[in-house]
Amino acid sequence: MKKSIIRGTGKFVPPHVVTNDDLTAIMDTSDEWIRQRTGIQQRHWITEEEPCGASDLGTNAAKMALEAAGWTPDDIDFIIFATLSPDIMFPGGGCLLARNLGLKSTPALDIRQQCTGFLYGFATADAYIKAGLAEKVLLVGAEVHSSGLDMSTRGRDVTVIFGDGAAAVCIEADDTEDNVGLVASALHADGHYADSLKTELPASNLFRRMPEDISLDDPRYFPVMDGPTIFKKAVRMLPQVTMEVLKKAEMEITDIDLVVPHQANKRINQAYGQFLKLPEDKIYHNIQKYGNTTAASIPLALHEAMEEGRVGKPGDVVLFVGLGAGLTWGASIYKFP
Ligand code: ACO
Repeated sequence: MKKSIIRGTGKFVPPHVVTNDDLTAIMDTSDEWIRQRTGIQQRHWITEEEPCGASDLGTNAAKMALEAAGWTPDDIDFIIFATLSPDIMFPGGGCLLARNLGLKSTPALDIRQQCTGFLYGFATADAYIKAGLAEKVLLVGAEVHSSGLDMSTRGRDVTVIFGDGAAAVCIEADDTEDNVGLVASALHADGHYADSLKTELPASNLFRRMPEDISLDDPRYFPVMDGPTIFKKAVRMLPQVTMEVLKKAEMEITDIDLVVPHQANKRINQAYGQFLKLPEDKIYHNIQKYGNTTAASIPLALHEAMEEGRVGKPGDVVLFVGLGAGLTWGASIYKFP
């Protein structure tokens, strides 16, 4: 049976670092508040001098993943691109990324599942592989949040948490009876909470999607979030979906070598660990360096966890888990061959 195996990973973040103290110069916030409430110390943002889109960051990450896998762009037979911050309204970033890689006919699919983009993307790649529709899939998560954030105190609850960045994985079909690769995944969505985290404009559900009579300062142009509601949902749903995916994989939590969670808030991931009685070293954190990079967050954490030797040896089992706008949430279990 065909299994979906990760052959290479890559990451790219824009070089410009924005510390918590830097943010205090533009809004009423503090290093202490941000560290205590989120665990974030800094994030990377693009600069006015070097503007670029999510697909550009994604292209750099993809090149690193391709090199690690020993693939050339021509080897890719399917691209999945996950982002909530597409370069332009349309066409999708997957097409732009394929163009950047010099590809002229490789199929490209965009996924708009925010913080769970990697989980949805990996499950989609696996389905394509199992159906025999693809052998070598490039999955990229990339975000440029900074160009769309409210830089006034009004937006401080959201703005301080988001960072720009990208990460990519090369996923290949392998015909083996071993229980390796993507062992199981569980995905969910509940649109009843769509208003808990959203950016409203431009909106095709308005007669004029860019209304003439509103100011560019209109909050609907910026992401708004009911943070406490999402926090409470996350600490409930993340353990729940973890138990669901463990059951699907016929595994126990003790079979997991490392949990690589979405990096939305360190406190959320610590509460998750306490609920599941996980030793602290079984959960990977890099939110302190990057903030929440949304679709890039899980593959960026995976890349660094592998780089640090925390996971990646044959037989190692990693559990990915995340919740974000939609609401969408999910988990998956991957076993290294
Ligand atoms: N600096 C200083 N004070 C702030 C800031 C800030 N950056 N932001 C908010 N505050 C203030 C608030 O105004 C409030 O003040 P008040 O008590 O005087 O009214 C106080 O801090 C507490 O605000 P809360 O929103 O209750 O703070 P909370 O502890 O919930 O932390 C946070 C906010 C960090 C956003 C948290 O709710 C959270 O992490 N929520 C979940 C985020 C998440 O997981 N999102 C999904 C993924 S993102 C995606 O899908 C794209």
